[in-house]
Amino acid sequence: MQMEEYKDKIILGDSLQVLKQIKAESVDLVITSPPYFQQRDYGNGNSGNGNEQTEEEYLDNLSAIFFETVRVTKTTGAIVYNIGDKYSEGGLRLIPYQFAIRAVKSRKVFLVNEIKWIKLNPTPRQDKRKLIPSTEPFFIFAKSKEYYFDLSNYLRHLDEMNKNQRNNPSGKLGKKYFELIDKSDLSENEKDKAKKELQEAIRAVYTGEISSFRMKIRGIHKPAYGGQAGGRNDQIINNGFTIIRITGDRLKKDIIESPVEITKDNKHPAVYPLYIIQELIKLLSKPGDIVLDPFNGSGTTCLAAKNLNRHYIGIEINPDYVELADNRLKQICYHQELFI
Ligand SMILES: C[S@@+](CC[C@H](N)C(=O)[O-])C[C@H]1O[C@@H](n2cnc3c(N)ncnc32)[C@H](O)[C@@H]1O
Repeated sequence: MQMEEYKDKIILGDSLQVLKQIKAESVDLVITSPPYFQQRDYGNGNSGNGNEQTEEEYLDNLSAIFFETVRVTKTTGAIVYNIGDKYSEGGLRLIPYQFAIRAVKSRKVFLVNEIKWIKLNPTPRQDKRKLIPSTEPFFIFAKSKEYYFDLSNYLRHLDEMNKNQRNNPSGKLGKKYFELIDKSDLSENEKDKAKKELQEAIRAVYTGEISSFRMKIRGIHKPAYGGQAGGRNDQIINNGFTIIRITGDRLKKDIIESPVEITKDNKHPAVYPLYIIQELIKLLSKPGDIVLDPFNGSGTTCLAAKNLNRHYIGIEINPDYVELADNRLKQICYHQELFI
């Protein structure tokens, strides 16, 4: 089949079979969450992935589909898999990592990042001898160093939030440091200088020259270990203080916080957060690109792609979920970024 016949469609079928009909290197981004090992019954009987008898069988079947998704991905593309773990005989099986190790060992892909999804509302458990599992990995794999990666568009609303805070100063910036300077045993002359430089750093934050700063004051903050002559420790000893200016946008770390999706209007039992998928699509693709989900479920990936003007292809084995996803895609549903 030609690519045009798949574009912006949810295809009913077994992923491995459908993927085999898709041309090599024709998709820009794959994002998916396969069924976790022996976790849920999706009503697929003996077909479909997830309820194999053994871990090995599960990993074999999943890897076969994974390598098909690698084949259909362009060399500039990325392949993202979100997988959860399973307890067996009291211990975690590390299934996501067993999967990722197989992928990496193949040398067909390399692991760009393991993003940890921090679940803000994890499922409570009764077990008093375990902490509540509240993270899940999103593995980002790439085929070549040319993978598309637009850091400036990832979690951009958090940068905007930082800027808004700068533009609407509450008057609190640096307040703590002024108090600490007053409390310190610096001489009056040193205190004056420290306050002047602190004032200057606050001004630089408000004008956007720097994004933030840290101050260290003699006798109040611990000196750093080691350090070169003329470095920060010398400044603290000789001047009574030092100010570390931090430039650039917020550091973008390999964690993303989001609640587990509330599935009030969605009958699918394992929906992942639209918010996370939208952010990954912004990071790893451009408008007009093709995003594929081989375990489409209720169509979250396709919805996120559509919201962001990308094309989508979904593959799902269960006809009820194909219908559910088609209906979901007809409605307009754009999740406002969280935490704005
Ligand atoms: C974890 S769910 C995906 C949920 C999806 N991310 C969402 O937000 O709605 C996995 C889905 O894969 C489907 N599935 C299982 N084996 C499959 C296969 N071999 N081919 C296609 N779909 C399959 C299941 O029916 C289920 O809907």
